[in-house]
Amino acid sequence: MTTTNRSKKPEGEPVGIALLGFGTVGAEVFRLVQENADAFAHRIGGPVEIRGVAVHNKNKLRPGVPEELLTDYAKALVLRDDIDLVVEVIGGIDFPRELVLAALNAGKSVVTANKALVAAHADELAEAADRADVDLYFEAAVAAAIPVVGMLRRSLAGDKIQRISGIVNGTTNFILDAMESTGASYEDALAEATRLGYAEADPTADVEGHDAASKAAILASLGFYTRLTFDDVYCEGISKITADDITAANQAGYSIKLLAICERLVDEETGAESVNARVHPTLVPKEHPLASVSQSYNAIFVEAEAAGSLMFYGNGAGGNPTASAVLGDVIGAARNIVHGGRAPGENTYANLPIAEFGEVETRYHVDMEVEDRTGVLSAISGVFARHGVSLRTVRQEDGDATARLIVVTHAAKEAVLEDIVAALGELDEVKAVHSVIRLGV
Ligand code: NDP
Ligand code: HSE
Repeated sequence: MTTTNRSKKPEGEPVGIALLGFGTVGAEVFRLVQENADAFAHRIGGPVEIRGVAVHNKNKLRPGVPEELLTDYAKALVLRDDIDLVVEVIGGIDFPRELVLAALNAGKSVVTANKALVAAHADELAEAADRADVDLYFEAAVAAAIPVVGMLRRSLAGDKIQRISGIVNGTTNFILDAMESTGASYEDALAEATRLGYAEADPTADVEGHDAASKAAILASLGFYTRLTFDDVYCEGISKITADDITAANQAGYSIKLLAICERLVDEETGAESVNARVHPTLVPKEHPLASVSQSYNAIFVEAEAAGSLMFYGNGAGGNPTASAVLGDVIGAARNIVHGGRAPGENTYANLPIAEFGEVETRYHVDMEVEDRTGVLSAISGVFARHGVSLRTVRQEDGDATARLIVVTHAAKEAVLEDIVAALGELDEVKAVHSVIRLGV
């Protein structure tokens, strides 16, 4: 092994790692580093050593972890002279932000699995990494084991991405799949996803779509070379999806999936480009590959100008799959510490405008309870017609005093559909609009 001029370590000296967090992900990262130390040393060109593990509760039993490695004072560990690389797997935003900035400002490379942090503070973190000329890696932040971040950063860097869409949250996919395939209740399925280590510490982030929205912001930023943060992503979760919605979708030949969709939009008249990112429950035709993505698996479609359509599928949550992605980054960052050099940082040169959600066009599945009498259908179709939206299918199921009417529209702008739902709500013939679910992939 030779040491280059850019090397940040004397030859043979281990790269010192601070592991922040020893939960679902951190414990697996620790185990895999211990078990594969020799192989990693060969892949890196020098050894790595975990020199400290920061946790919240030092008194918790952690078999296999030497007591002297444990600390509940993460900041001091980060700033220690023998730490070259900080691995953040705590979660949350404010506290890890402080730790990650402290690490970067002290010239230490950082690997994080924390999408909430990256989606909220990407610019600040990227600038700190640039200033210190160190690496900031976050492969595990999106779709755990699926190497979609590296694929966008490196493999597709020569192409033009048009659209990135797919299932990027394991917990919600697990819940929707269990509700559809076994008839499990929403609550039971969420409890099981939490037990299996898929859900965030606060699972609201999963079920309300926030976790997927953070991932969409990261994917859109990388794919379109334009910074999108969490706040730029329209977000609707699955907490309002009922067993009834799932049955109705099934009868019509669809599965309901929580999709993240990042799109490049082109104005037909001016050719001007903008981008949009959104997360919402979506009706996916049963014959589409996304419909058969089960349990906590994730799947991502990338449509690129030259490459065409690509699909990535794999484990999107859980300790082991996430640790795999974290360790890929650890090896990349450690290699750069040993041999000198730096991974490509983020680039947002295109800085495209972010399109309003109301400008996005989709098809809709609108489920209503209506009066069961003559003229109702024409009143309802009249509302759609007055807004310039044509209906693709109309299905009616008779109830006792009322009927259930399910219409599927042709493509319409979100803003127009919002007006339609408001107008339907004012019709005497419409007792309730139970749900509006978007269609398409
Ligand atoms: P866990 O809740 O299982 O673990 C969190 C760890 O952080 C625990 O070890 C906890 O300590 C520690 N911690 C909490 N507060 C502090 C503190 N103030 N100082 C030091 N340590 C602290 O989370 P996960 O492992 O599931 O997730 C970690 C990160 O990885 C999150 O950002 C998550 O979004 C991301 N991620 C998770 C995936 C998954 O499937 N679980 C997949 C992809 C990304 P203690 O053990 O004492 O409680
Ligand atoms: N809570 C996340 C999920 C973990 O369920 O997908 C993986 O990022």
